[in-house]
Order: sequence, then structure tokens, then C-alpha cells
Amino acid sequence: MSEFFSMILLSLWLLLHLFQVINCSSTPLVPALYVFGDSMVDSGNNDFLNTTAKVNYNPYGTDFPAGPTGRFTNGLTSVDFLAQFLGLHFVPPYLGLSMAQKGKIITGMNYASGSAGILQETGSGMGKNLHLEQQIEFFTETVNQFLPQNFKTKDELLQYLSKSIFVVNIGSNDYLNNYLLSTQYNSSHLYTPEQFASVLLKEFRQHLQELHNLGARKFVVFNLGPLGCLPAIIKLENIKIGCATRVNEMVSLYNKGFHSMIQEMRTSFKGSTFVQGNVNLLSSGLLQTMASNLNGFNFNQSVVDGSLPLPYSFQKTIETIGDSECDPIESGTRSRYNYGFLTPSPCCSILDNETNYCLKDVSTCMDRTTHFFWDGYHPTQSVYRLLAVGCFYGPIPCTPINVLQLALEQPGNASHKHHFVSSSI
Ligand SMILES: *[C@@H]1O[C@H](CO)[C@@H](O)[C@H](O)[C@H]1NC(C)=O
Ligand SMILES: *[C@@H]1O[C@H](CO)[C@@H](O)[C@H](O)[C@H]1NC(C)=O
Ligand SMILES: *[C@@H]1O[C@H](CO)[C@@H](O)[C@H](O)[C@H]1NC(C)=O
Ligand SMILES: *[C@@H]1O[C@H](CO)[C@@H](O)[C@H](O)[C@H]1NC(C)=O
Ligand SMILES: *[C@@H]1O[C@H](CO)[C@@H](O)[C@H](O)[C@H]1NC(C)=O
Repeated sequence: MSEFFSMILLSLWLLLHLFQVINCSSTPLVPALYVFGDSMVDSGNNDFLNTTAKVNYNPYGTDFPAGPTGRFTNGLTSVDFLAQFLGLHFVPPYLGLSMAQKGKIITGMNYASGSAGILQETGSGMGKNLHLEQQIEFFTETVNQFLPQNFKTKDELLQYLSKSIFVVNIGSNDYLNNYLLSTQYNSSHLYTPEQFASVLLKEFRQHLQELHNLGARKFVVFNLGPLGCLPAIIKLENIKIGCATRVNEMVSLYNKGFHSMIQEMRTSFKGSTFVQGNVNLLSSGLLQTMASNLNGFNFNQSVVDGSLPLPYSFQKTIETIGDSECDPIESGTRSRYNYGFLTPSPCCSILDNETNYCLKDVSTCMDRTTHFFWDGYHPTQSVYRLLAVGCFYGPIPCTPINVLQLALEQPGNASHKHHFVSSSI
């Protein structure tokens, strides 16, 4: 009986907050959003690095209010959308901030870097990047040097961190810019795909542990999408039809281990919540169908014939609350997000070229919403929005709870004491 009532209370609580979100309340749902990862979520860090993985030029950002920012897509990334849904501003790239700004900003920072991976050497062929360990080092600096000036006590700072959301989206480049380039990197000579997945996950777990030691409690950690379906990999592997199965099998091994790791961390890290972002769930059906049906693809049809595993409620969720008034750029322009991805070819034509990025100043496809891919590696903002809306409101692709539920959850405080002990050793 009491369970029944608490369920009703929970629903009311959720509804109230949902209403608040949709009405663009000025009160954010969480104090901060911290972002770690690669080009899927980089908001401009690579602009400040000596690397060929840099996209601060047209046509990148063609649908972003400020134009090219260093985001590897035409508009917003999934974390930009998540920030909006949480009632926060876009999360600024750490390398773009002055010392004074670093000392003042308490709504989150973005440490993600294009071409970066879990392993240090990943992406090194393209120049400098912030590998995951470097990103955690910068966050350590943030926690130790910059954030304390904004809090009276260490306990207040820890409270703040325990309520903040930590998004980690990394690992693709350990395949794309490491394991799959066997002439440039030695990982594929040293490890079988099984071993390599274990090496990555062991390292990944250690870095998540470090974030936890620093005070993070609410995690959203993404697994890998079907990398074998990326235009760049289809080209690299010389696949004529469909996706590169060999590559998708490697990803599956990683994702299986990833799932076990997150499960294990849920029990090991008491007082923490791990939301698993299942990128595969959202995109593999869609991409497989697109890649094997080059003549056209209808999102609706694939939902109808069941080839795309989207539950009806999820589709409904997108239709009813996918466009909120909180979206300053797109409000009232429903048609820009119709999710009718019609073609597997990238929006900026790159396939005849050496590069898999958009060339400088090339013209793009007219209707970005009909394209799943922006360039050879990265999705369009329509895809990012689908991912973000699903993760925030939906039952998939983020499990076992969505980001809205994560935001509203009371953080556990049991492990804070533990934190003091372990961090002072
Ligand atoms: C950037 O990296 C390239 C290649 O590694 C190097 O030749 C060049 O000197 C570097 N530029 C600067 C400004 O460090
Ligand atoms: C593999 O490559 C890395 C970095 O390029 C290098 O440090 C390491 O010594 C190499 N390992 C072997 C076994 O060749
Ligand atoms: C999907 O189907 C709905 C209803 O059947 C229709 O209103 C909508 O325009 C379709 N969307 C696309 C992208 O075809
Ligand atoms: C890329 O392709 C375009 C059009 O096919 C061509 O004009 C351009 O020279 C190519 N650039 C490179 C670097 O190959
Ligand atoms: C959290 O702290 C409060 C007050 O200090 C305490 O009553 C409660 O039991 C703690 N919760 C957990 C899960 O330890």
C-alpha cells in the first residue's frame, strides 16, 4: 500500500518537474553538468590544440546560432540538448576559459576533445588531444583549485558535486583512431578484439573511479554505437553493401563488457547512480537498414514493420514533448526535426576525398534533417536531438532510468564519509 502511494507521489513529483522543464523554468534541475569524451560531445576544446581534428570553420555549425564553434556537427550536440532540458546553459569548453572564468563558473565545464580516446596514444596521429586521463586531470584541477572559492565548506562543495550530472561519452576513437589503423598503431598486433575491449574497460573503470573519488555521484556513461556503419569505416573497410560486420562485432564485445562493468560499479559504488546510454539501441537498426537499402529509407515504415526497435511510447514521447519552448533556436519549427532520415550519405559530401571531415566552405545538403550523418564520422544535430530527447524523457536509450529521473533523484550520502577516508590516504 505504501509503495502504491509513494509511486503516486513520485509520478506527481515527476509531472510537476516535467511541467517545469517544458515551461522553461529558470531554476535548473541540477546545479551543474560536467562533460567528458570525444568529438561527439566536444564543444570547442580542440580549437585550442595543434591537431587536424579541428572543425572551427564552415560548414560546421551552419545550424548553430554562433556559427562554427568547434562542435563536430551542423548544430547542437546531445549534451547541448541535455543542458537545455536541465535548464542549464551550454557547457563551455575548458580550454576556452580564462583563469577568472574557471574560478566563477559553477554550472559545469566540458573537457571533451575530438580524436581522444580512453587510451593515451589514441588519435595521436592527428596531433594533440585531451585523452581521458588528461580530462580527469583538468577536472581534478577544477575541484581542487577553482570550485572551492564558490563554497563555504568542503561539505557544501561535495553536496554540489553529488547533485551534479557527469556525462562520459568516449571509446569510439580507441577503435577508429587506434585499433582499426593497424599500420599506424600497434594495438591490433598486441591484442585480440576481446583483449583490447578488456584493456579499454579496465582503464575506463579506473577513470570513473577517479571521478567518483573526487565527488561525482550521478553518472551518464555511453557505450559505443555501430561504428561499422559509419561512412568513413564503410569506406576504409571497402564495404559495398551494408555495414562492416567485423567492426560491429568488436563493438559488441566492448558493449557486452561495458554493460557488466556498469552493473558491477552500481554495487561497488554505493550512493552512486549509473545511467547507461545505449547508443547501439537507437542507431543500429536505423543504420543497418539505411546502409542495406541505399535507395531510400522511411523512418515511419521501419517503425511499422518492426525493423527498428523503438517502442510506440518512445515515438509518442518524441512527438509530444520533443519540441519544448525551452529550445530557443528551434521553437515552432517542428518540421526541422521530423526524423525522416532518408539517406546514409553524409550531408557534406566528403566521400570522394581523403578526409572524412567536411572540407572548408563546401556547400551542404539542403535538408539536414533527412541526413543521419553530417560528415564521415558524426551524426547531424537531428540525431543528437533524438538521442537526447530519448535519454532525458524516454524509456530508451538510457537505462535503467532516464536523465530526468537521475536529475530528480536524491544523491546518496553514505559514501561521502568513505570519500574523505580514501582520498586522504
Ligand atoms: C603542430 O604539429 C605539427 C605536426 O605534429 C608540427 O609540425 C607543428 O610544428 C606544430 N605546430 C605548433 C605551432 O606547435
Ligand atoms: C606500441 O606503441 C606505443 C606508442 O606508439 C609504444 O610506446 C609501445 O612501445 C609500442 N609497443 C610495442 C610492443 O611495440
Ligand atoms: C510519419 O507518420 C505520421 C502518421 O502516420 C505522419 O503524420 C508523418 O508525417 C510521418 N513522418 C514522416 C517523416 O514520414
Ligand atoms: C575533394 O573533392 C572535391 C570535389 O570532388 C575536389 O574539388 C577537391 O579537390 C578534393 N580535395 C581533396 C583534398 O582531395
Ligand atoms: C544521509 O544523511 C542523513 C542525515 O545526515 C541521514 O539521516 C541518512 O541516513 C543518510 N542517508 C544515507 C543513505 O546514508
